[in-house]
Amino acid sequence: MTEAQSIRPAREPDLPSLVELLRQLFALEPDFKADPERQRRGLALLLADPDRAVVLVAERAGKVIGMVTGQLVISTAEGAPSAWLEDMVVDAAERGRGTGPLLLDALQAWAVSRGATRLQLLADRENAPALRFYAKALWQPTRMICLRKAPL
Ligand SMILES: CC(C)(COP(=O)(O)OP(=O)(O)OC[C@H]1O[C@@H](n2cnc3c(N)ncnc32)[C@H](O)[C@@H]1OP(=O)(O)O)[C@@H](O)C(=O)NCCC(=O)NCCS
Repeated sequence: MTEAQSIRPAREPDLPSLVELLRQLFALEPDFKADPERQRRGLALLLADPDRAVVLVAERAGKVIGMVTGQLVISTAEGAPSAWLEDMVVDAAERGRGTGPLLLDALQAWAVSRGATRLQLLADRENAPALRFYAKALWQPTRMICLRKAPL
């Protein structure tokens, strides 16, 4: 029988696995381009800021099979912290086995534990499987669009 997956905070030795997962994610999102060194730096910045950020990994049989990151911002609309969910990805060989929902629940629990009253994320508009996945988890689309300015 396949061992169950579990969720835990990421540690420094997980970085190579996380960089590989982000490569898989960015390959699906034309807005982003994989760059292992940047991903490593970004993950290190998140790990170094535990008051505002979290990196969660899904593990099965001692192997990292998925990840999600969260970061807090202050929302004046909420009058409270809200959390950005980013970097949600499950290894291609492990999809469809319930790992994504476990990562979502764990990220939400982290956000609530930090006083957040809302979660938000950005998804590629053509990533239909991901959009279905979030809809099933009761995430709702909003009227907002994302603008960006880069590089600075
Ligand atoms: C979206 C994602 C995180 C969901 O994680 P997951 O562990 O596969 O989640 P689930 O097990 O609940 O499966 C989600 C759906 O994918 C379907 N699925 C099954 N096998 C699959 C496969 N090999 N590949 C993709 N999707 C599959 C399942 O049927 C399931 O649909 P259902 O809920 O109607 O049964 C994961 O598919 C993934 O990493 N996708 C690529 C990265 C991505 O798009 N991330 C989101 C960025 S916003």
